Amino acid sequence: MKAEDLIPRAMAMRENAYAPYSNFAVGAALVTEDGTVFGGVNVENASYGLAICAERTAAVAAVAAGHRNFRAIAIAGPGSTVTAPCGACRQFLNEFNPQLEVAYTTPDGMKVTTLDALLADAFGPKNLQ
Ligand code: THU
Repeated sequence: MKAEDLIPRAMAMRENAYAPYSNFAVGAALVTEDGTVFGGVNVENASYGLAICAERTAAVAAVAAGHRNFRAIAIAGPGSTVTAPCGACRQFLNEFNPQLEVAYTTPDGMKVTTLDALLADAFGPKNLQ
C-alpha cells in the first residue's frame, strides 16, 4: 500500500482526535512492510505542552504491536489545510525509515514525498554507530 492510498484512512481517523484546545483534529495512517495499517490521532492535554501528534501516536501503536518496518504514512488535518508533519515527527519517524513515503493534505490536493526530502541530513541511528 502506498502513502496516497492511506489518505482516506487518515481522514477517517480524525474523528477520534482529542483536540479540545486547538480544535485542529489530525489523523494519520501508517503502513508497515507487511501491509499492516496503524491509525493515529493527535492527543492533547490540559497541560498544553504534552500534546502528541497523530503521526507519533500511529508510530507508537505500530512499535507497541511489534512492527518497526514502516513503509508509508499519510496525514490529514481539518478540511484541506496543509498538514505536513512537524519537525519533531519528522525526527521521530526517521528513526524507523529515512526513506518513508509521506502523503499529506494541502488545499491543492495531496502531496506525496519522502521523509528524507522533508528532513535533510537527518541525525539517526547510523550516527551513533
Ligand atoms: N498536529 C499533529 O497531530 N500533526 C501534525 O503534523 C501537525 C500538528 C497536532 C498537534 C496539536 O494537537 C494540533 O495539531 C495543533 O498544532
